[in-house]
Amino acid sequence: MMSPIGIFDSGYGGLTILRTIRQIMPQYDYLYLGDNARTPYGTRSFEVVYEFTLQAVKRLFDEGCPLVILGCNTASAKALRTIQQNDLPLIDPSRRVLGVIRPTAECIGSISHTRHVGIFATPGTIRSHTYDLEIAKLHPDIKVTGVSCPMWVPLVENNEAHMPGADYFVKQKVDEMFTLDPQIDAIILGCTHYPLLLDKIEKYVPANVKVIPQGDYVAQSLQDYLFRHPDMHERITQGGTLRLLTTEHPRQFNENASIFLHHTVEAERIVL
Ligand code: DGL
Repeated sequence: MMSPIGIFDSGYGGLTILRTIRQIMPQYDYLYLGDNARTPYGTRSFEVVYEFTLQAVKRLFDEGCPLVILGCNTASAKALRTIQQNDLPLIDPSRRVLGVIRPTAECIGSISHTRHVGIFATPGTIRSHTYDLEIAKLHPDIKVTGVSCPMWVPLVENNEAHMPGADYFVKQKVDEMFTLDPQIDAIILGCTHYPLLLDKIEKYVPANVKVIPQGDYVAQSLQDYLFRHPDMHERITQGGTLRLLTTEHPRQFNENASIFLHHTVEAERIVL
């Protein structure tokens, strides 16, 4: 039986994380789960995001994953800690669930010179203040400004990210960010869907500002983790395969997922 690395997201966003992880670690088997039928999570309550995320994690465990990455900032902000502390010890203490916020917060210290950093994320991630707290622990001299972008995930999920209409919603939020803090010189894209809007975001931010998709940092951090935990590395099978599961109809998933992954895919539908 295969023991793949599981990657979970509310929809397609985690595919941006899957792609960068597979670029540097193509040898492992991977199992992706997108809860497309119930996306977006960003506007849902703590309780519901936790409940949905736990269902997904259990499913990925049942499929044989010893390690699950929550490739979703909203789930990482709202469900990760409770799953790690309360659920994992009861389900199987030898398995691991990791998130995407900590590795992203780590990278920012060496990127910002003004020590003023912006975060674009879903309303759930912004309201949780998880980025502010993580960055304050690691880099207490950095001032963080969070702006929530409730329209951006629907734009990406509906394949509208490259359409002219998306410009309005992107410019609106970029203007909001720089009105709140004009000294920002680095912006974290704290939602795994947002790299699909990168071109448009870069079009509206001042030229000196770095816009940071988190995929490369999450991938690097996972590689370091597996190097530091050879027992986990040995448990993950290395056939180089990718299997994709979705809670929506696979036809729609296959079309949109190929835009994120830059190759065609055949997903399977599951019920959580
Ligand atoms: N892609 C997810 C994130 O990183 C959330 C999208 C959503 O479901 O709202 O936050």
